[in-house]
Amino acid sequence: MSLLQTLVSAGAAALMTLSAPLDTLAPQNDVSGTLFLVNRQNTITEAYEPEDLVEAQVSGSVRRMRAEAAAALEEMFAACREETRLTLISVSGYRSWSKQNNIWQRKLRSVKKNVEKAQEYVAPPGASEHQLGLAMDIGQKSKAHLTEAFGKTEGGKWARENCWRFGFILRYAEEWEEITGYKFEPWHFRYVGREYAKEIHDAGIPFETWLIRYRTDLLTGLLEEGTE
Ligand code: DAL
Ligand code: ZN
Repeated sequence: MSLLQTLVSAGAAALMTLSAPLDTLAPQNDVSGTLFLVNRQNTITEAYEPEDLVEAQVSGSVRRMRAEAAAALEEMFAACREETRLTLISVSGYRSWSKQNNIWQRKLRSVKKNVEKAQEYVAPPGASEHQLGLAMDIGQKSKAHLTEAFGKTEGGKWARENCWRFGFILRYAEEWEEITGYKFEPWHFRYVGREYAKEIHDAGIPFETWLIRYRTDLLTGLLEEGTE
């Protein structure tokens, strides 16, 4: 067999291997999984609502999240209390498409319909990972909420340094604005699961960038299997 024929046949074998299991082997494609990417480029429909929303048993408001994320949040807040005596609170968890739309419209009005300005901190409806039920805006009891000042509180620092232990990542760090499309939000944490949170935290890169790396590794692995 010529080199070209060998490559073509290896490619065909790899493609056959790829086509069937890709969806199951690619958690980033599963809207009910913990790695689903939502941003302004990857939106979710108005109809999407997670099936397993529960109230996280923590202090604060808007405490609904998907069950797995809620349990992790409870553990994280309890650990913070135990390790620092500080009380973290929930500020905003699950938001439906229409709730996000209300927030977006209100923001747009407040900045005289300047979309660029509005989207510095607020996602348009369908583009917020709060709709996944996997994001929580966190505050420290009796401190300012949803401002950069939270990042300087003891609770804010603790949350940033320790969130990965419970499966969360800080989603919008100051140096990632170009990639995430949002200004620094020291309060916004996204649940991805413990398995991935440590890896993403250690990599020190935005979720978007990490997912490209993850997907590439996955495809490379499958291609190698297909050509073995
Ligand atoms: N503040 C984040 C970007 C949101 O609205 O989902
Ligand atoms: Zn948020």
